[in-house]
Amino acid sequence: MPEKSLLYELRDEDCQVIEEVAEKYQGGQGVLISALHEIQENVGFIPRVAQIKLAETLDISISEVYSVITFYSFFTLQPKGKYQIIVCNGTACYVKGANGILDKLKQELCINIGETTPDRLFSIEAVRCIGACGLGPVISINGEVYARVKPERIPVILADLTRREEKAG
Ligand code: FES
Repeated sequence: MPEKSLLYELRDEDCQVIEEVAEKYQGGQGVLISALHEIQENVGFIPRVAQIKLAETLDISISEVYSVITFYSFFTLQPKGKYQIIVCNGTACYVKGANGILDKLKQELCINIGETTPDRLFSIEAVRCIGACGLGPVISINGEVYARVKPERIPVILADLTRREEKAG
C-alpha cells in the first residue's frame, strides 16, 4: 500500500482524462500498462483516484495496479511541482551549508525531498552537483540558478514565486 498519501489537486481536464482512459480500456485484458501510460502522459502522474478507477474498470485489485506503478520507474505517484526546486547536495555545496537550505525548504513547504506540495506548486529534489560549485551553495528552480543561498533567503524566494503565481491568477 502507498507509504504516504498526499492528495493532489486535480484539474478538471485531469479528471476527464482519467474517465476517458478508464472507459476506453474498460474490461480489457492486459491493458493496464497502456492505460497507465496514457494517464501519466496527460496528467503528469498517476493519482490515487486513477488507481481506484482502473482497478474497478479492469476488474483487478488496487494493490495490483499499485505494484505495477511502483515496479516501473517511469510511472510516478507524485506530480512534479510547477516550480521544481533542485538543491545541490554535492561536496562543495554540502560543506557550504546545503543541508541548512534543504531543512529550511522542507520546513517552509512541509514536504520532504522527492515530494510536491498538495497545490502542485513546489517540489524539492536533491542532486549531487549541478556544475556551479564555485557559486555554492546553489539551488536551481526550473533551470534558474540561485548562487550562495542562505537558509534565510528561502522564504523570500518562495514568497516571490508565490506572488508571481497570484499575479498570473
Ligand atoms: S557541488 Fe554543488 S554545484 Fe557542484
